[in-house]
Order: sequence, then structure tokens, then C-alpha cells
Amino acid sequence: MAIENIGHRSYWIWDPFLDLGIESIDKQHRRIVDFINDLHEAHTSHNRLSVARTLDDLVDYTVTHFAFEEQLMKAAKYPLYDEHIKNHASFTAHIYQYKQRYEAGEDIVLPLISKLKLWLIHHIDVEDRKYIPYVNKNTTQSWIQTALTQFWKLTS
Ligand SMILES: [Fe+2]
Repeated sequence: MAIENIGHRSYWIWDPFLDLGIESIDKQHRRIVDFINDLHEAHTSHNRLSVARTLDDLVDYTVTHFAFEEQLMKAAKYPLYDEHIKNHASFTAHIYQYKQRYEAGEDIVLPLISKLKLWLIHHIDVEDRKYIPYVNKNTTQSWIQTALTQFWKLTS
């Protein structure tokens, strides 16, 4: 899926400055960007079925990613955990609102992806970046690997 998005058609080309140095998290963030590009592509080619499907996948994946990140922050004893999960919750509520508007027949794809892009850049670069030292200090690679396997197996 990602391959199709390489090149001039991509709405958003991942910028490595957003890599945080934790491979699983970086991969998940890049995957969300792939979904956003897929959504843009489906919208541009007027493929309504693909828009609906990609929107569902994007929302599901993002919600799962947030939940994984929350487990990781908890294990890392991140002191701003509560603030961070509120941030996720408010963003999730926003994307569900967009999804409902889409399902009610409104064409919200372009405003949605523009909002997603702005929000994610800020969130990753500012909010997520803050928990990285705690993850590095208080979790191990094997803990992350185990959580990752369990988590994505349970939710995929
Ligand atoms: Fe986050």
C-alpha cells in the first residue's frame, strides 16, 4: 500500500524529523501517514467505496495506535500520562465527528486530512517526543516487543 504512495501523488511525504527513535512507534506513525495518503488518493479518484473503507481503517488504526502508545507511556511511568491521554481522547472524538459527517453525506475528506496532518505533526513532534526519554529509561526492547505482539494480535 505504501509503495503506491511514493512519488508525486503523495499528499504527505513523511519527513524524518518526525522519527522519534522508537522503531515500533515510528512505524505506526508512518502507517497512519500511509492511510492519510490512501484517503487523499481515493478522494482524488472519486472512489467512494475506497474512501469509506480507508476512512474506517484510518480511524481503527489510529485508535489502536493511541491505545498502544498509552500502554507504553504507562509502563514508562511517564509523568504527563493523564494529559497525553486526554489529548488522544479529544482528537479521537474529533475524528469520529468527521466520520459521522462523512456517513451523513458531507464531503469532509479534504478538511479532515488537512486537520489530521496539522494535528499529527504537532502531536508527534511536541507531545510524543516528550515521553521518549521515559520509554528509553523505563522500558526494555523486549517489553516493547512483547506488548507489540500481544497488542496487535488482539486488535488486528
Ligand atoms: Fe500520542
